[in-house]
Amino acid sequence: MTLSRILTQQEYETAYAASVKDPEAFWAAQAETFTWKKKWDKVLQWNFDGPEVKWFLGGKLNITENCLDRHLATRGEKTAILWEPNDPNEAAQRLSYRELHDRVCRYANVLKRNGVKKGDRVCIYMPMIPELVVAVLGCARIGAIHSVVFAGFSAQSIADRIQDANAEFVLTSDGMMRGAKKGAVKSVVDEALATCPDVKRVIVTKRTGDPVAMKDGRDVWLHEELKHVDANCPAEVMDAEDPLFILYTSGSTGKPKGVVHTCGGYMVYTDYTFRNVFQYEEKDVFWCTADVGWVTGHSYIIYGPLLAGATSLVFEGIPTYPDAGRFWQVIDKHQVHIFYTAPTAIRSLMAQGLGFVEPHSLSSLRVIGSVGEPINEEAWHWYKDHIGKGHCALVDTWWQTETGGIMISSLAGVTDEKPSHAAWPLPGVQPVLLTADGKEIAENEQEGLLAIRFPWPSIIRTTYGDHERCRQTYFSSYKGYYFTGDGARRDADGRYRIIGRVDDVINVSGHRFGTAEIENAINESEFVVESAVVGYPHDIKGQGIYAYVIAERRIDDVEQARAAILATVTKVIGPIAKPDKIQFVTGLPKTRSGKIMRRILRKVAEGEMSNLGDTTTLLDPAVVEEIKAGRL
Ligand code: WTA
Repeated sequence: MTLSRILTQQEYETAYAASVKDPEAFWAAQAETFTWKKKWDKVLQWNFDGPEVKWFLGGKLNITENCLDRHLATRGEKTAILWEPNDPNEAAQRLSYRELHDRVCRYANVLKRNGVKKGDRVCIYMPMIPELVVAVLGCARIGAIHSVVFAGFSAQSIADRIQDANAEFVLTSDGMMRGAKKGAVKSVVDEALATCPDVKRVIVTKRTGDPVAMKDGRDVWLHEELKHVDANCPAEVMDAEDPLFILYTSGSTGKPKGVVHTCGGYMVYTDYTFRNVFQYEEKDVFWCTADVGWVTGHSYIIYGPLLAGATSLVFEGIPTYPDAGRFWQVIDKHQVHIFYTAPTAIRSLMAQGLGFVEPHSLSSLRVIGSVGEPINEEAWHWYKDHIGKGHCALVDTWWQTETGGIMISSLAGVTDEKPSHAAWPLPGVQPVLLTADGKEIAENEQEGLLAIRFPWPSIIRTTYGDHERCRQTYFSSYKGYYFTGDGARRDADGRYRIIGRVDDVINVSGHRFGTAEIENAINESEFVVESAVVGYPHDIKGQGIYAYVIAERRIDDVEQARAAILATVTKVIGPIAKPDKIQFVTGLPKTRSGKIMRRILRKVAEGEMSNLGDTTTLLDPAVVEEIKAGRL
């Protein structure tokens, strides 16, 4: 069967209608295009109460066979991974599909040699080097469940994730290159493992060559291990519903939870969305600037592009090194056709001025995309006009770690686009807007809570080790729906505009944090009694982090106290979670029942000082005056 792609608005409408009328037939037709070791017996079984969602039941496959082996006959010499290093003077590397297949098989054999078996959880903490992609696929090759942890998280965050997943294996590197600096990697892992005695093996890739401590009996070098293996590694037979990976993400309560995706549905959905949203063509060079540590990197650096047989550019560096023109220089250098990035990157490069854009032609670009947070109209137009030169299609893609792939987006150049609107649901996606008491809003030009009423193939299956948490978080607020945590509005024509989170999750530079998670980190500072964190609008980051902190004694040196809190947050979570503003207060606005009225804190942080709404239930209204007076 040939791969179909939607090419016109009319085809989109037809496909959408078909996907709603008979979802099973629709997705079965997509799934037919893959290599299955055994075809499924049943397409879908589901209920949202459990929740229990299963796609392609009884089907057997290995996703790496579909990413690699399947392409060897026709695309063996085509570049699969095009790696651009941090330093523009270091040579780029091209791995053909054949070479990537070879490297993945060898890596998988190293994993086996070191005791990794199907179903084992493997923590991956690595910078953006080719071995990161190889390590991810190496796990999938043998049916081990990868849990990638973004290489900017702290030792404590790694330890939490290793312990939650009972991972006994860690894949890492000696260090990393990041802009003008090198960064620590292995030493961070070592610190994490001080509290993870169950980790049996650490496999270390050499990147920087800096000296690192190797623990006897636990740590091995990848290049040494590779001497003992060959490139023959048959793909493990996986059930469609066997877990493929765990990826931790923040919610409104507690510690980050491990979102679980499974092999079959995730494969079908990432491939379908990649080809259709970006209107991928065989000759295209595709570049997603996310880090593999986030879901965007999983789905649109690794799995989606490789399933489609594309050339995926993997960039090690940062947008501002050696200067703020780096993205544009790389686009010209590698003749990138499709470029996918985050609004926060667009806004920060916009702020650097057109002087960094103008020297580059950007003439290879055909499609540009945005993901991770709402893109404001100013950034949308700048991106469209100055990067897309007015003629590139711009896709604003809304989705989540839990959805596995893009859910709402225009299809590049096929369905129309409107600034700040993700626009249309993809075929197979049935979004609704709900009122606060759970009624579907039928009319357009209304705002509501965004929920989905029918499963799609890459919907979250569970939160690792705690299915009840999955039910509580996503399926209990509104019975019969998957609740996204986002608010949205439909325009007169039914296009969706995502407004932002309606829960206690904040989105800082496209990174998700629970306010409780940051509060817990702040509270670990020795002099802090209590804290409350809210988001506020930030020109570059989308949302900034505003922390109100009660200290146990009078603070004499405010700057020093702030520095101490920032150091604690860096240690507990990582530098990406550092508050932008810390205001010391003597009390927080609480109701008589002891609940913090975050609405008030949010308004003050936003600079809204008068319209604070009903404050009559406050225990001590004087607190509000103090907070307003001390606003930063
Ligand atoms: C937000 C990232 C507006 C949203 C793929 C969602 C967006 C959260 C968009 C998920 C968009 C993502 N427009 N908001 N195009 N894309 N979001 O899990 O609030 O890191 O719930 O997944 O990012 O973030 P996550």
